[in-house]
Amino acid sequence: MAKIGLIVGSLRNGAFTRLTARALPELAPPSLQFFDIEIGDLPFYNEDLETGSPPAPWTRFRQQVRSADGILFVTPEYNRSISGVLKNALDVGSRPWGQSAWDGKPAGVIGQSPGALGGMAAAHHLRQVLLAVNLAAMPHPEAYIPAVATLFDDSGRLQHAPTREFLTVFLQAFAMWLERFPRSSG
Ligand code: FNR
Repeated sequence: MAKIGLIVGSLRNGAFTRLTARALPELAPPSLQFFDIEIGDLPFYNEDLETGSPPAPWTRFRQQVRSADGILFVTPEYNRSISGVLKNALDVGSRPWGQSAWDGKPAGVIGQSPGALGGMAAAHHLRQVLLAVNLAAMPHPEAYIPAVATLFDDSGRLQHAPTREFLTVFLQAFAMWLERFPRSSG
């Protein structure tokens, strides 16, 4: 069993990224156990706040990241990049210097967009940051989900069969990717 921290890069009520994340557990092999790591309450990163006791949401977030065997990001695309709130979370998890919560963990990236390009630019920007924090992003298969607004039914369930099939294959590959890494001790 591998504990996977799910990080959704949008705070919007009804976010398609959140709906996609919600669809993953039922499509994943039983070896993957998901839990949410929320990022919306993290104060903007400011190194001054590291002195003394850092903000409680930072501590909660870092502990959750440390406890995960792997991290799966579902990212929207904002101006051909990731959202500011997701970049802030990546920065918070990476500090204090020498104590990054991300270090050495396996990761997966799912980009998506209501547009035709499926959040590819955001996913690639995200991969660049993951390199910097030593998160090992699964290289293949890549996941870019276009026209995401058309894929869910009125209850928010992912009903588009080809996307369900693709994500099933993606998650099988992700489970194999995780096998290459040690389990978290957290
Ligand atoms: C967007 N959107 C967007 N879409 C895209 O395909 N490429 C882009 O560069 C952008 N840029 C962008 C910037 C900002 C500030 C916003 C708010 C939106 C549209 C975006 O994909 C759309 O709003 C999604 O629905 C956002 O994801 P969630 O919130 O549904 O998960």
